[in-house]
Amino acid sequence: MQLLVTGGMGFIGSNFIHYWLKNHPADTIINFDNLTYAANPASLQDCSHNPRYHFVKGDIVDEVAVDQVMSGTDVVVHFAAESHVDRSIDNPTLFVRTNVLGTYVLLSAALKHSVKRFHHISTDEVFGSVNRLDPQDFFRENRPYNPTSPYAASKASSDHFVRSFFKTFGLPVTISNCSNNYGPFQNPEKFIPRMITNVLNNQKIPVYGQGDNIRDWLYVEDHCSAIDTILNKGKVGETYCIGGLKDGSTNLNLVKTVLQVMGKNIDQINYVPDRPGHDDYRVDWTKINQQLGWTPKHTLEEGIKATIQWYQQNSDWWTNSKKEAELFYQKLNNYQHTSYEKK
Ligand code: NAD
Ligand code: TYD
Repeated sequence: MQLLVTGGMGFIGSNFIHYWLKNHPADTIINFDNLTYAANPASLQDCSHNPRYHFVKGDIVDEVAVDQVMSGTDVVVHFAAESHVDRSIDNPTLFVRTNVLGTYVLLSAALKHSVKRFHHISTDEVFGSVNRLDPQDFFRENRPYNPTSPYAASKASSDHFVRSFFKTFGLPVTISNCSNNYGPFQNPEKFIPRMITNVLNNQKIPVYGQGDNIRDWLYVEDHCSAIDTILNKGKVGETYCIGGLKDGSTNLNLVKTVLQVMGKNIDQINYVPDRPGHDDYRVDWTKINQQLGWTPKHTLEEGIKATIQWYQQNSDWWTNSKKEAELFYQKLNNYQHTSYEKK
C-alpha cells in the first residue's frame, strides 16, 4: 500500500511515519511537506536511506504539485496544518490558507485519483469549550461545533469540507478529533516541551492565567496507534474522538507533574496574562474504544517521563526551534501589551 502523509516533517506526522514504517513493513510512504518553521527534517533523518520512505517538498495549496504527488496513492493521512493557537491569534490568514484551502485542494485531488481512504487529522478544539464546573461535560462525536480561536475555526471548516466530500461526492473519508498530543519531536512553542526546555535552560515556566484551564493529554505514540486502528477498522464517513485521559487535567496539575519528575518545585512557575478566548477541553473516547477496540497505553506520568528523557537527550534537535519559539512569544507579548494599552 502507498500512503501519502502530508505534514510528515512536523511533530505528529514524523512520529506517525516512524510508527508506520516499523509496523507495516510492506508499505511505502510519501511525505509531502513544505517545511514551514514547524518542520524539522532532523526528525526523520534516520529514514532518509529507507527505500520505503520518500520526501517531496511541496505546498498543499499548490494544485499542480498535489495532483502529481497524489498519483498512485492508496491512502492519504492528512496532518499538514498551521497548528499553534497563539500563532493563529497573531496571524489568522495563514491558517485559512493552509488549513481550509489546503485541505480542499487535497480532497479534490484525492477524488480525482480515486484514493481508497482519506483520513483527516483534526482537533478537539473544534467543539469550543466544556463547562469546567461540570465534571460530566465531555466532547463527544455528536457535539455541535463551536470553535473559539482562529486555529479551531480553520480546523472546523476543514472538517466540514471533508464531510461534504463524503456526502456529496462519495470520497471515502474518516476524521479523528484528538486532544493535545505530547512526546518526542514536538516544537518547544507548545506547552509541554516549552516547560521541559525552560527547566533545562534554568528558566521559569510561564503559566497562562491561574493555570486552571483543562486539557486532555494524549501520548503521541498512542495517537499513532489510534490512527492505525481507524485506517484498519474504522467505518468510512465516521468521526472518532481520541483522548489519552479518563478526565481532563488542569494545566497546574500538569506543571506539577513535570516539575516533580524533573526534581523542581513550584517556585519555577511564572503566572503570566491569560490567552484571549482561552477555553477548556475534556474528551470522551468511548466510541473508538468500544467500536474499534483502541485504548491508550501510556499514563500521563509514563508519557511525561519518556518525553522529559527525550528532551534531555536531544538538545541538538530543539536548540534552534527553542530560540525561534521564544522570539515569537516575545513578539506576541509586545503585541498583546500594545493592544491592551489601546483599549
Ligand atoms: P506541526 O505544526 O508540528 O507540523 C505541521 C507540519 O505541516 C509541518 O511539518 C509543516 O511544515 C507542515 N505544513 C504546514 N503548512 C503546510 C503546507 N501549506 N503544505 C505542506 N505542509 C505544510 O503540527 P502537529 O502538532 O504535528 O499537528 C499535526 C496535525 O494534527 C494538524 O493537522 C493539527 O491540527 C492536528 N492536531 C494536533 C494536535 C497537537 O497537540 N499537536 C492536537 C490535535 C490535532
Ligand atoms: P498549547 O500547547 O499551546 O496547546 P493548545 O492551546 O492547542 O491546547 O497550550 C496548552 C495549554 O497550556 C493551554 O491551556 C495554554 C497553556 N499554556 C501555558 O499556560 N503556558 C504556555 O507557555 C503555553 C505555550 C501554553
